[in-house]
Amino acid sequence: MAIIVTSNLSKKFKDLLAVDNVSLEVEEGECFGLLGPNGAGKTSLIRMITAVSPPLSGDIGVAGIDLRSHPRQVKAMLGIVPQIDNLDEDLTVLQNLTTFARYFGIPKAVAHTRGCELLRLLRLEEKSSGRIKELSGGMRRLLLIARGLVNQPRIAILDEPTVGLDPQTRHLVWQQLTELKAQGVTQLLCTQNMEEAAVLCDRVAVMHRGRILSLDSPQALIARHVGETVLEVAVTSANRERVVRELTTHGIDFLDVGNTVKVLGVNREQLPATLLGTAEELRLRPATLEDVFFRLTGKTLEGEEEE
Ligand SMILES: Nc1ncnc2c1ncn2[C@@H]1O[C@H](COP(=O)(O)OP(=O)(O)O)[C@@H](O)[C@H]1O
Ligand SMILES: [Mg+2]
Repeated sequence: MAIIVTSNLSKKFKDLLAVDNVSLEVEEGECFGLLGPNGAGKTSLIRMITAVSPPLSGDIGVAGIDLRSHPRQVKAMLGIVPQIDNLDEDLTVLQNLTTFARYFGIPKAVAHTRGCELLRLLRLEEKSSGRIKELSGGMRRLLLIARGLVNQPRIAILDEPTVGLDPQTRHLVWQQLTELKAQGVTQLLCTQNMEEAAVLCDRVAVMHRGRILSLDSPQALIARHVGETVLEVAVTSANRERVVRELTTHGIDFLDVGNTVKVLGVNREQLPATLLGTAEELRLRPATLEDVFFRLTGKTLEGEEEE
């Protein structure tokens, strides 16, 4: 069953169409990813779904409830981890959770127990009575995640939850989100990190300039747009023209990415012998969602999209 349904959703900032006619359905219990670079429109889309900003046009339904007419009922179902840190600096770490829980009408004792448990799971318990300004950037992000879960939401909406985290802490968050999914909580996750999308998401919408370009499971997206493997040929200004010409002559599908030419969906044996015969630097690796994005847009996920 679809638990979030958006129909023809658009958002405009002056002349900029930040979200362009997006229709999607998030199934109950799945982790649904929005993958796209800075400026793709992920946050604008999320802010409409969480009733923070009104759409220019289109409809949003959550668990069968129309968001426009019943925003409070919808919000009660959501746990929101915003991209921008808006922790309360005047409160302690634990108070940030318990105070937030009060907005959902959660009794004090329950809020306290849940808050402590979340701090334990996210390895923040030692900071429990500390002030927000004592936290590192990574700890603040962990606390934002904890706060988004304190109301035990039916749907968790996470906007780039692991940005700026070190790899070990990122894995801790991934582990907790995997656990959350096992408990049946639906997740809508924005990310620029293709590994994050591949590890966590059941389905991924590839987003670019306000639009969804393709939508499927990570494996299906890779199979459809790229193929199983990518062969990277390191090129220099001296040999790039020849490499590109040879591939073109042999009708081999490739992407030209600056210092590298990516040959999609073929293995070493299928390459022209003349290319292999030279001292070209070759690397065969599994295809990724980054390749999918590059295939669809000619751009990298790290690329800025500000106009
Ligand atoms: N409040 C705003 N006012 C004007 N432009 C905005 C505002 N919020 C976002 N934008 C623009 O809308 C586009 C999409 O931004 P955003 O939704 O934040 O993308 P993402 O979250 O994918 O990085 C960008 O070009 C951004 O500059
Ligand atoms: Mg964003």
